[in-house]
Amino acid sequence: GSYPWAAGYYDDGDRPQIVTSRFKYEDSHTIDRYHATGGYEGLKKALSMPPEEVHDEVRKSTLLGRGGAGFPAGVKWGFTPQGVWPRYLVVNGDESEPGTYKDRLLMELDPHQLIEGCLIACYAAGLSRCFLYIRGEMALAHERVAKALDDAYAHGYIGTNILGTDFSVDIVLHWGAGAYVVGEETALIESLEGERGMPRLKPPYFPAAIGLYGKPTIVNNVETLSNLPFIALNGSAAYTAIGTETSPGTRMIAVSGHVKRPGVFEIVNGSTTFRDLLYGDEFSQGMRDGRELKAFVPGGGSAPWFLPDQLDISFEGREAGSAGSMLGSGAVMVMDDTTDIPAAALTLVKFYAHESCGKCVPCREGGTWLYRIVERIVAGDGTDADLETIREVGQSICPGEMPHASSERLGLEAVPFPYKMTTICFVGPSAYVPIHSAMTLFPEEFEAIVTKREVRTTIPVTAVPV
Ligand code: NAI
Repeated sequence: GSYPWAAGYYDDGDRPQIVTSRFKYEDSHTIDRYHATGGYEGLKKALSMPPEEVHDEVRKSTLLGRGGAGFPAGVKWGFTPQGVWPRYLVVNGDESEPGTYKDRLLMELDPHQLIEGCLIACYAAGLSRCFLYIRGEMALAHERVAKALDDAYAHGYIGTNILGTDFSVDIVLHWGAGAYVVGEETALIESLEGERGMPRLKPPYFPAAIGLYGKPTIVNNVETLSNLPFIALNGSAAYTAIGTETSPGTRMIAVSGHVKRPGVFEIVNGSTTFRDLLYGDEFSQGMRDGRELKAFVPGGGSAPWFLPDQLDISFEGREAGSAGSMLGSGAVMVMDDTTDIPAAALTLVKFYAHESCGKCVPCREGGTWLYRIVERIVAGDGTDADLETIREVGQSICPGEMPHASSERLGLEAVPFPYKMTTICFVGPSAYVPIHSAMTLFPEEFEAIVTKREVRTTIPVTAVPV
């Protein structure tokens, strides 16, 4: 069904729900509803076990990070150096990837589940303070999490001697100012410290070794942490019984663009193909206005684009990688046959160029160059030399072969993900990926406006809600 208070979320069918099970209740964000639906039972169970055992359960669950990179959470927790205190948990609630809007729903609709997850992580990984960083634009999420924190403190779930044990932890809420790059974990740490949100060089030092205020810091995504109450309460076996061996559990997918029913769906890992997601009755129900699918972005704006040939790929990380893209932050953006491909690429290039923090030259200069050139091309003033310059600038950000989907139409072999990069974080490459995908998969659309100077008849539409 769909719920007016959970706008954009759908749970038709009988898929197992791990993180969205309370979304159907209008008061899902309250502590009363949370208590009435098993809330804080996972924490109580965790506190009755030694921390190492809880950590072990999470390790055995193979819970993969849901921010986009898919790094196993239990393994990451194990990277903190012995004997260095204090250690921190930083919650990355700065979700900003184009098309991605699932962490926002988790914070707005089930803030206690996230808080319980934070407490379990702190207990299991020996972290003494938690910083919860929410993206600046998410006012309702901020309000709901703040209220939930107050209520959880009042009930003795947070603070000193939690539930009568010797486990103590404080949770500090921080509201960001709305910079995309601050979703990158080291830029987020800089921002928390009061500095400009710019990424730190990593490797050699990952936050788990040297993070917030120079101390060991685990940075986990909102959805990752929201899985922990289920794992703590039901055990790792119950979790791995859902999904695939390499990618257990469920994950939240946000579909946007030209489908009949854009929205967020909690799917079982490995059991759903892009065709199910885009055309299935319980998901997005096909293209709007009976149009044809032209292309789709499978994993957030930074992911190389897929063509209809890739529809039967399953929502499972490895498959998407070998087919030339990634699943990233779980955002699928759909373009139908009315889409003006150069214009759609421009929307994304513009976003990433604008969001460059300016620290790395290839991103700061290259992103702006790419934006200006693509804008000129879309305006009908591009030249063949512009197409060459795009590739040259792109190579200065991502040297070597770029991943792309195979295409029967163009006789292209898939080039697998990932790519090389000359910048610290993914913002730089992200400005090149969309235009690279567009030019590789739809060369005729660039030829039409740049070489043949055709007047275009398609309506420029924006595929991306940025
Ligand atoms: P990454 O692969 O560098 O790191 C992933 C996590 O694993 C980090 O927490 C990192 O500290 C940890 N890690 C990796 N290797 C480690 C080691 N040897 N020792 C200790 N810790 C280690 O990826 P990154 O740059 O953190 O994330 C990139 C992804 O973020 C992209 O694939 C993209 O999908 C996603 N993304 C998501 C956005 C969103 O709004 N959700 C926005 C932009 C990008």
